[in-house]
Amino acid sequence: PGVPPFSVPLSIPPVLKPTRSTADADFYDMRIAETELEVLPGIRTKTLTFNGSFPGPTLRARRGRAVVVRQFNGLSGPATVHLHGADVPASSDGHPMDPIAPGQSREYRYPNDQRAATLWYHDHTHHFEGERVYRGLSGAYLLSDPVDELLPLPTGEFDVPLMLRDAKFDSKGQLVFVPDDFLNRPTVLVNGRPQPYFEVKRKLYRLRLINGSNLEMFKFRLSTGAPFLQIASDGGFLRVPAVRQEIDVWPAERAEVLVDFRSVPPGTAIALQNVAALSENKRDILQFRVGDGGSWAKPEIAIPSWSGGGRVPLVRGQVPGWPANNALRGRVTRTRRFVLRLDLAKGQFVINDQGFDPDRVDATIEHGSTEIWEIVNDDAALGIQHTLHLHLVQFRVLDRNGKPEPAHDSYPKDTVRLFPGDVVRIQATFDSHLGRYPFHCHFLDHATHSMMGQFEVVPKR
Ligand code: C2O
Ligand code: CU
Repeated sequence: PGVPPFSVPLSIPPVLKPTRSTADADFYDMRIAETELEVLPGIRTKTLTFNGSFPGPTLRARRGRAVVVRQFNGLSGPATVHLHGADVPASSDGHPMDPIAPGQSREYRYPNDQRAATLWYHDHTHHFEGERVYRGLSGAYLLSDPVDELLPLPTGEFDVPLMLRDAKFDSKGQLVFVPDDFLNRPTVLVNGRPQPYFEVKRKLYRLRLINGSNLEMFKFRLSTGAPFLQIASDGGFLRVPAVRQEIDVWPAERAEVLVDFRSVPPGTAIALQNVAALSENKRDILQFRVGDGGSWAKPEIAIPSWSGGGRVPLVRGQVPGWPANNALRGRVTRTRRFVLRLDLAKGQFVINDQGFDPDRVDATIEHGSTEIWEIVNDDAALGIQHTLHLHLVQFRVLDRNGKPEPAHDSYPKDTVRLFPGDVVRIQATFDSHLGRYPFHCHFLDHATHSMMGQFEVVPKR
């Protein structure tokens, strides 16, 4: 059933309330289950949900307060829940080989000892993460900190998570999952609704763009040509906000942007578009309908350089507390190389010629060390894009094909884009938790088909 773009309203997933709180932690209960609900207007669609919500409810956390989530697995098979972008102990990482049995529950403990960031949680069950996430098992996790709260950023209804993902429905309105069916997912859902409209006020908005797609690559643009002010990347604030006409956000990447409707005439419609869409019907993703929103008085924040580049006084040019050479602490002790490609003979996506083997550790890393990983997308001939995501750490992208990566795409990152043929170098410091963590392509259909390895952080000798 084709739903014309901009015919259903945007919905905002509910913010989950703690079941109890102590002096230094908030406790939550979630239930993973199959649920029938309305995705397309007037149709019941079978989905997988956390607490009956598609996508899952939003968790709001604050640096320095732990979050403990008890996940009950109401599915008939195993499940795991991974908090993407988070620095967590291995026992709470939701490793694919560390499942919750059906009918059982398990507590994940998140210390929240990292900078403010837009994180997201999703299923990571071995061999099933692609399908599970596709059917609905993902949600936003918004971590704030004193820096975030100090900045004069939009809050409340003006701070909006937008979880975007690809989808295909059959003639009965049911989700169809065909692995790696890249060209054939004709719909984009925003917070679980097909290409919706969003009634906005004449205000400044903070939009948290989260690409929860298995395969869809976005290059965002506003139909008016007005720029975004990008303030954050995967792992938190940029050192200096960036005025961007277009923003690439590939699967699992995040970008936080400010969009300014304050001087837009009421009644104006502005589309958020994907200029990289492979088909015309997926180009228009979300329509902002600018309402009255009261009188146009004084702006809360002056951004004189909005359209002109240069310094942005919003954060006086630099986020407070950002070390000048963040992520460059420590001497590089080791360089590794990982080559990603589709092995046509094996019918597998491989890293260094090997598919995922849960018993194999691909990189043993001494605690506290800093490494450079050279990542190669060896699929130039086939024209296949990949990404690389590391659990546990935020890294810096040093360079791409020998050229320095622009600051807004460099740090803090946990997922890096690899165009066909790209050679990208990233640098990470492994100085938090010990244990075994996955790294993988976040085109989840590739990860499910084996494009995954493991690193293990071991005590310093
Ligand atoms: Cu979104 Cu293994 O991660
Ligand atoms: Cu891939």
